[in-house]
Amino acid sequence: MYINKCLLILLLCCSTLKFVNLLSVRETDNRQHNQTKADPIVIEVSWTAHDYDLHTIPSLQLVTNPLVSRQFSPVSKEIFANLKQLNAEYARYAVWFPYPKLAVAELDPPSGLLQCGNVGEDYPLHLSCEQNGGVISQIDFASYGTAMGACGQMKQGSCHAENSSSIVQRICIGQKSCTIIATNDIFGDPCYGTLKRLLVQMECNPPQNNTYWNFTYMDPMLEDFLDATDGHSRIISFSTQPTWLFQQDTPHIYPDNATYIDWGYPVGTKFVDESMQALGDYYGRVVAWYTRAGFIDEYGLKHNSGYEYNWDYTEIFNEIEGEHQMSIEYYTRAYDAVIQGIRRHTNNYDMKYVGMALENHNEFNFYKYFLNHSNHAPDIPLDMISYHFYAIGTSRTDPQSWENFFPQLDKFTIEVEQIEQIRKNLSPQTRTTIDELGVILPNDNDPNAPLFPLIYWNAAAALYAYSWGKLSRQNIDVVGHSQLVGYPQLPNLQLEPQYPSVALLNWTTGEGTAKYWISKLLIDTADIDNDQAVITRTTDVGDQNIFSQAFTGKNNRRWVLIINKRYASMNVSLSGCTGGKMQIINEASGFGPPTEITLTSNQITLTPFAIAIVHMPTAKK
Ligand SMILES: *[C@@H]1O[C@H](CO)[C@@H](O)[C@H](O)[C@H]1NC(C)=O
Ligand SMILES: *[C@@H]1O[C@H](CO)[C@@H](O)[C@H](O)[C@H]1NC(C)=O
Ligand SMILES: *[C@@H]1O[C@H](CO)[C@@H](O)[C@H](O)[C@H]1NC(C)=O
Ligand SMILES: *[C@@H]1O[C@H](CO)[C@@H](O)[C@H](O)[C@H]1NC(C)=O
Ligand SMILES: *[C@@H]1O[C@H](CO)[C@@H](O)[C@H](O)[C@H]1NC(C)=O
Ligand SMILES: *[C@@H]1O[C@H](CO)[C@@H](O)[C@H](O)[C@H]1NC(C)=O
Ligand SMILES: *[C@@H]1O[C@H](CO)[C@@H](O)[C@H](O)[C@H]1NC(C)=O
Ligand SMILES: *[C@@H]1O[C@H](CO)[C@@H](O)[C@H](O)[C@H]1NC(C)=O
Repeated sequence: MYINKCLLILLLCCSTLKFVNLLSVRETDNRQHNQTKADPIVIEVSWTAHDYDLHTIPSLQLVTNPLVSRQFSPVSKEIFANLKQLNAEYARYAVWFPYPKLAVAELDPPSGLLQCGNVGEDYPLHLSCEQNGGVISQIDFASYGTAMGACGQMKQGSCHAENSSSIVQRICIGQKSCTIIATNDIFGDPCYGTLKRLLVQMECNPPQNNTYWNFTYMDPMLEDFLDATDGHSRIISFSTQPTWLFQQDTPHIYPDNATYIDWGYPVGTKFVDESMQALGDYYGRVVAWYTRAGFIDEYGLKHNSGYEYNWDYTEIFNEIEGEHQMSIEYYTRAYDAVIQGIRRHTNNYDMKYVGMALENHNEFNFYKYFLNHSNHAPDIPLDMISYHFYAIGTSRTDPQSWENFFPQLDKFTIEVEQIEQIRKNLSPQTRTTIDELGVILPNDNDPNAPLFPLIYWNAAAALYAYSWGKLSRQNIDVVGHSQLVGYPQLPNLQLEPQYPSVALLNWTTGEGTAKYWISKLLIDTADIDNDQAVITRTTDVGDQNIFSQAFTGKNNRRWVLIINKRYASMNVSLSGCTGGKMQIINEASGFGPPTEITLTSNQITLTPFAIAIVHMPTAKK
């Protein structure tokens, strides 16, 4: 059945001349593999022929979302226990925009002596004058209906509950604080069938300056991440900027519920404060909150957190070209402004920085501009750059089609070479983290998309192992597997899909999939300071089926990474491996760690998309 399917696909895609070579290779291959006894692919290692030094650190990223948060998730304990046992260096923590309350610490702009609230129907609006021990003295504006506008500019809409002001006054005037729920029960229904909001503007006596800093949802996740990665280097990315820092006609309305998705949160392309000082201040205060026990706000008021965490790298923004369509010139100024802001608020000059986090890795002009030190302010470090790669699937359900992940990675490595040229010319001391590398299947966030068969975890795991192997040849410093936690629609938690195919963990149980276990296996095996790659060849024509790379290290250690790139079983033979130990991740190893086998012959069978690490027996003396 497999063979028929494969031939069919080949016939369909072989209309172009380009595929003729491929066809002949695959035909040979198919002929081989329906025979009962095919010749195994021979892996030939020249154990004394140095190829390159191994420097590439396998790592991963954790993107924040409700399933990561102990406030909403039934599996957050398992998630962080799994993260901890990885012992990853350079794990990236990405605070990402789709859940604004989980990602932004100051969702509304500072509003001076006026205090405003704006909540959706059925949500509570909270007002407080407790900062200076005062009371609510005046309601300037209140409307339950379809009012709109920023603080200081609120206007009634066509729908308005006529007694809004008197009701809010009755509940709040003279109180230190008050909470009003925006419901028809309280205000009556001014427009049946229309979704309403409650907007209020008020003042305190004595007056107080108002800001809207709130770390309620950001704190627990970052605490858990920093605890799980304690003792390791890590990259923290508060990637999302408050949208009010950007010019816009009307303020963006974000969801009241922290677990509701808002794909439209990043709006605006130009900062209100063109000097970007306000941008730097936002980031400076967030970093001070976590590393300096608190910060001084826009009006000189101290906010205490008690946190004195430490991390070594801060990444500045995520995929700038997508979210706010920044030019590289604009981004470079913002990068400098954020570093200056963090220094202003923390006095930390040791923090290292990661720049760009590009989505489209082939934007060579971005690297040329950013990596040129004369385009930056004085004393701005270029410690590391980052960019991303995803192999894109064409089918959610056809494992055969996933063989196509591997040639996509091959194409990417050519772009990596070009980026490396630019980096070495302009800023050779700048390091590189490809801090999102993974696979995305089509329609991943469509709630009705079918769930992939579980062999998908093996295909995506094989792609990551292959990427790490290929990129280690190019000396890339860090390759980060994307991403620890994703999920399809989860009706019991009322969660919309969040890139299930990109996940490393099973969203129901929190257990590791093959993607998780390959990350762990590579982290545990690769000895970055001592291992060296040695010349490794195979009899596999054009490396169509098998990737293999052998390494030698301290104490005569010799090991070989072998990856089956095909949705078919492959036999390989590796001279001298008998008596050695193999760790294999395949469909059979499921959600468990790699299966360990003592090899009793030189022949190894790799089931579809299997990944093996073979530890050669130590030479007897
Ligand atoms: C291999 O499969 C092809 C097509 O199914 C068949 O024609 C051929 O006889 C098979 N070869 C062997 C050696 O079984
Ligand atoms: C691999 O080797 C085993 C054992 O020799 C054999 O049974 C199997 O048919 C071979 N598989 C392939 C795909 O050649
Ligand atoms: C508004 O308040 C007035 C005075 O108390 C009352 O007569 C009127 O019915 C209220 N309107 C609504 C819609 O509740
Ligand atoms: C911060 O947000 C949480 C969750 O929405 C809320 O319960 C709390 O009252 C807010 N704190 C302040 C000071 O507004
Ligand atoms: C509010 O902030 C302004 C600007 O920082 C300051 O001049 C003023 O004294 C503050 N007022 C109060 C009541 O804190
Ligand atoms: C670096 O930037 C400066 C100023 O923009 C420019 O003059 C110089 O040619 C650039 N250097 C390279 C190598 O591109
Ligand atoms: C927010 O959504 C969650 C489900 O994600 C739900 O359990 C919770 O009740 C909602 N909160 C409010 C205030 O509606
Ligand atoms: C998650 O784990 C459960 C329990 O082992 C299993 O039934 C389910 O198929 C897994 N789902 C995925 C997508 O891995």
